[in-house]
Amino acid sequence: MNRPNPSHEQPLELAWVGGEFVAPAAAKISALDRGFIFGDAVYEVIPAYGGNLFLLEPHLQRLEHSLEITRIRNPFSHTEWRNLLADLVARCGDHDQSVYLQVTRGVAPRDHAFPDIEPTVFCMSRPMVGVSTELLQQGLAAITTEDIRWNYCHAKTTSLIANVMLRQQAVDASADEALLLRDGQLTEGAASNVFIVVNGQLLTPPAGEQLLHGITRERILELASKEGIPVAEQQISEQQLREADEICISSSTKAILPVTRLDGTAVGTGSPGPVWKAMWRAYQMEIEQVRRGAVG
Ligand code: PDD
Repeated sequence: MNRPNPSHEQPLELAWVGGEFVAPAAAKISALDRGFIFGDAVYEVIPAYGGNLFLLEPHLQRLEHSLEITRIRNPFSHTEWRNLLADLVARCGDHDQSVYLQVTRGVAPRDHAFPDIEPTVFCMSRPMVGVSTELLQQGLAAITTEDIRWNYCHAKTTSLIANVMLRQQAVDASADEALLLRDGQLTEGAASNVFIVVNGQLLTPPAGEQLLHGITRERILELASKEGIPVAEQQISEQQLREADEICISSSTKAILPVTRLDGTAVGTGSPGPVWKAMWRAYQMEIEQVRRGAVG
């Protein structure tokens, strides 16, 4: 998936903080920053293929939405965000990159209520970690677990300790992802959205406050319709999840991946299924177009 960085002069990874480009390991933020003290911050993860940011517009819209929900001031205009992120990616080269941006409420003496201060912005780009052929052939293992998170899961905040604990629960069970159940209904993964396939139909829980409105999720729904695969956003019970023909997860860094084992039991045939294969192919074709600069 990754192509080598063609120029030795360009850094493979780079950060932007305090108005300057620096090596990520050298980036410094005050210990009094509310992002550090309270997790009082929002973020985005945006893929770039061949040096071109993919689905930047919806990512920026979701950033704005997260900032509105948390009442953190947006420090930049749309154009300023676009220019900054394009500059960051261009400085790294045309290899596939994962761009992270974070906006915190800013630096202030510790007090829970909002201070009237400038937000802090931190961005970084790192090479995208590709998915191995072996993993694509075998699929992922997932566990189910109770969704212990709060009621603002549609805001992409850095207060991720619950997600971190849930993902670790999966890792402790030698699995790759935790699929979350709230009141017996599927919400999403610890760091992904979830789809199931039933009788050829691609289903995913509806976008509400219980899950992140994934940019990949949205694009998968659009691409599936184009591919002639019927889609529906509807509640998915634990039983439907367990009886699904296929399960897939999606995120900006992993596109769409098949889950072939759930709580140690085979999903469907136990191998990546035909609907996942069709969606993976369609998504990879789009990524190729982005690499060639044909779509953004
Ligand atoms: N996370 N749900 C959660 C809880 C997530 O953390 C993510 C992605 C998604 C998928 O959203 P998108 O398709 O917009 O990437 C859903 C990112 C990749 C992360 O935290 O690294």
